[in-house]
Amino acid sequence: MAPAESTGTRRLFFALWPDVPLREEILRRRALLKPSGWRAVPAHNLHLTLLFLGNQPSSALGDIDALGGQLCLERSRLRLDRFGWFPGARVLWLGGSAPEPIQAWVDALSSGMDSLGLSVERRPFKPHVTLFRRVLEAPDLPEPEPLDWSVRGLSLIESLPSRPYQVLRTWSVN
Ligand code: 2AM
Repeated sequence: MAPAESTGTRRLFFALWPDVPLREEILRRRALLKPSGWRAVPAHNLHLTLLFLGNQPSSALGDIDALGGQLCLERSRLRLDRFGWFPGARVLWLGGSAPEPIQAWVDALSSGMDSLGLSVERRPFKPHVTLFRRVLEAPDLPEPEPLDWSVRGLSLIESLPSRPYQVLRTWSVN
């Protein structure tokens, strides 16, 4: 794991982190869209958030890391089969529905954070990979070829200003 930053908090999230071939498949689907003033997420930052933790005390990093390690991970599959747009966040995404094992990881991580006394903003889990930001109006969206993501691990990621997301740790399924 990367050394602690000098600040007192770390901005963190748990995510599914695509390997290179999967990233390319995501990019291939993104190329179907015609951006108009939208800001593309850099290819190296594409991911699927499981639970956004926000700014957490640096002193809690060890406990948060242990949470990921305690999960009972089994191989599972996630199908990303539609483009969509969140009007509030103004992001355009490639997403799908949450299969039971992955929803269970999200629930376990969320209750784990509760038991550590660390607050997280809890939103319903809507599996998506954000492709573009600053999408101000509902775009016309084609249908992508479904992408089957064979989930082999879970990662803890740090978000640092003006830097690529940092993968702090990845736990692999058995
Ligand atoms: P998004 O891609 O839909 O914006 C890191 O910021 C990751 O955490 C992003 O994938 C982002 O989702 C997600 N996230 C969830 N809630 C967030 C929030 N309140 N602020 C910033 N990012 C959030």
